[in-house]
Amino acid sequence: MAATKSKILFIGGTGYIGKFIVEASAKAGHPTYALVREPTLSNPAKAEVIENFKALGVNFVLGDLYDHVSLVKAIKQVDVVISTVGHAQFADQGKIIVAIKEAGNVKRFFPSEFGNDVDRAHAVGPAKTAFATKANIRRAIEAEGIPHTYVTSNCFAGYFLPTLFQPGATAPPRDKVVILGDGNPKGKQNPLWLLR
Ligand SMILES: NC(=O)c1ccc[n+]([C@@H]2O[C@H](COP(=O)([O-])OP(=O)(O)OC[C@H]3O[C@@H](n4cnc5c(N)ncnc54)[C@H](OP(=O)(O)O)[C@@H]3O)[C@@H](O)[C@H]2O)c1
Repeated sequence: MAATKSKILFIGGTGYIGKFIVEASAKAGHPTYALVREPTLSNPAKAEVIENFKALGVNFVLGDLYDHVSLVKAIKQVDVVISTVGHAQFADQGKIIVAIKEAGNVKRFFPSEFGNDVDRAHAVGPAKTAFATKANIRRAIEAEGIPHTYVTSNCFAGYFLPTLFQPGATAPPRDKVVILGDGNPKGKQNPLWLLR
């Protein structure tokens, strides 16, 4: 008898990274659920992502990271939770941890990572704070004994190179760039200037 595919809930699935993982989950045949806030469903900027999810058979679950009841209700429907929330919500993933504990059915949790290994990277600048927040969430997951996987994928050139890693920039800088650290990091395996 064929093994049953895990049911997967995405929190942050309509984001930059999330949309690719939601699509991959649905295409791999997993019953795929996306927790979405109601306004997102009618947001023109998200229309293409939403329509793609519909075409892929993704199940929309209305909810919000900051609505505990909706979070628990969504989590109770699945086996696996994958968070792909952005930096503004990194610390608030503690709310997902609380909801997973209350729901009591989750076999595995993937917190929002998908970057450098925050327990090993020695970051400077703005990344240092973000990495520390991600590491704190790792410790909270471990303290609660939740089965977990941390996906580290280093940096995506397509995301960072267009602005030469200038925080907040939306176009390539023309006059100057800020180089963090001492300017002499080895870039062979990781092209990030923010790593010492
Ligand atoms: N390795 C790399 O180069 C790289 C590059 C980029 C990101 N990343 C990592 O990928 C992860 C995701 O980042 P991202 O840039 O893809 O994030 P993002 O685009 O900012 O997406 C954030 C997601 O969270 C959702 N969200 C925000 N507030 C919420 C709430 N209150 N309740 C429920 N959902 C909420 C957003 O929903 P709406 O669609 O409704 O706004 C969106 O789906 C992060 O860990 C980041 O560090 C890595």
